[in-house]
Amino acid sequence: MSELKNDRFLRALMREPVDATPVWMMRQAGRYLPEYRASRAKAGSFMDLCMNPELACEVTMQPLERYPLDAAILFSDILTIPDAMGLGLYFETGEGPKFKKTVTTAADVDALPIVNTLQDLPYVPNAVRTIRKELNGRVPLIGFSGSPWTLATYMVEGGSSKDFRKAKALAYNDPGLMHALLDKLAISVTEYLNEQIKAGAQAVQIFDSWGGALAHDAYREFSLKPMQKIVDGLIREYDGRKVPVIMFTKGGGQSLEAMADTGPDALGLDWTTPISDARRRVGDKVALQGNMDPSILYAKPERIRQEVAKILADYGHGSGHVFNLGHGITPEVDPANAGAFIECVHELSFQYHDD
Ligand code: CP3
Repeated sequence: MSELKNDRFLRALMREPVDATPVWMMRQAGRYLPEYRASRAKAGSFMDLCMNPELACEVTMQPLERYPLDAAILFSDILTIPDAMGLGLYFETGEGPKFKKTVTTAADVDALPIVNTLQDLPYVPNAVRTIRKELNGRVPLIGFSGSPWTLATYMVEGGSSKDFRKAKALAYNDPGLMHALLDKLAISVTEYLNEQIKAGAQAVQIFDSWGGALAHDAYREFSLKPMQKIVDGLIREYDGRKVPVIMFTKGGGQSLEAMADTGPDALGLDWTTPISDARRRVGDKVALQGNMDPSILYAKPERIRQEVAKILADYGHGSGHVFNLGHGITPEVDPANAGAFIECVHELSFQYHDD
């Protein structure tokens, strides 16, 4: 494999010195880019885009052609796992993801297979290999998966939810059954991420989008414990290099110490926790990724610049910070504003890496 030309992102995750703060955006390949919408129209459905390694590679590269990003992220979705378990994922325009089958009874959980990535999801490692070739060492490639709890919410609810009524009722009424589901997911996700690493993913992120919807102790039981199993089972060094693990619980600001104790290399932060506070609490154990409110990208470039300056100053001197949004970029953002954001992160951050 070709030599990495820009390793700022990996170095910051390992808390090694860098020349500038690295930056990427969650959902950086997506509908705010007209070229993405064109590729999506050409592919047909969103899943056709994910399942075709050449098209997945094409859209992964699109934000990198526009902006000086320090990492690429595999174009796929967290819901490929429940789809491979036989639930039948589909997208209805304007309504988000849906499943033909849901998981409600013990028999449903029993019937779910453990995913075998090379058999059931070969298009994912194939896309990773195709993208690595195309990147040719330009920046590192991030692989990802959903957390077991986040995946379980979609599987039990049958799609997106505002209150997670069914998933929470199942967890509280029959914790044993919820754990049986979470165990199958933790085993599947571990193997899935390890196959992404073997195919060339140079870091991995676990997206726990809905862990923050749980009560304090329920978060530890139903979200963090299964993520701990994943962290314990991941390949941490491959091809002569450390493979950093980023754990991102949206709304997880109250639980950073417990998250850091599970042993990831970095924690993703949303915008509700000041990054200085997070650094003080867990900065000696993990790197931090975040945490600008994505809505700031609706404001004008001068305003975006002020916010970037504020977050950089709040983190302060030294390595261990990967700049990102606190959640995914939204479809309505002007691509020029995303560009202004990325460029000023580098420009304003050199001063914090001068020792
Ligand atoms: O970050 C990237 O550029 C990589 C691609 C990526 C997608 N989804 C592409 C996508 C990643 C990392 C994801 C993760 C994902 N998917 C999460 C976790 C992150 C988060 O946002 O909390 C979740 C919860 C999902 C589930 C999912 N997939 C939803 C809720 C939706 C609908 C969203 C919407 O805004 O309509 C999707 C579809 C999806 N995944 C799109 C993209 C670009 C839009 C689909 C389209 O093109 O119509």
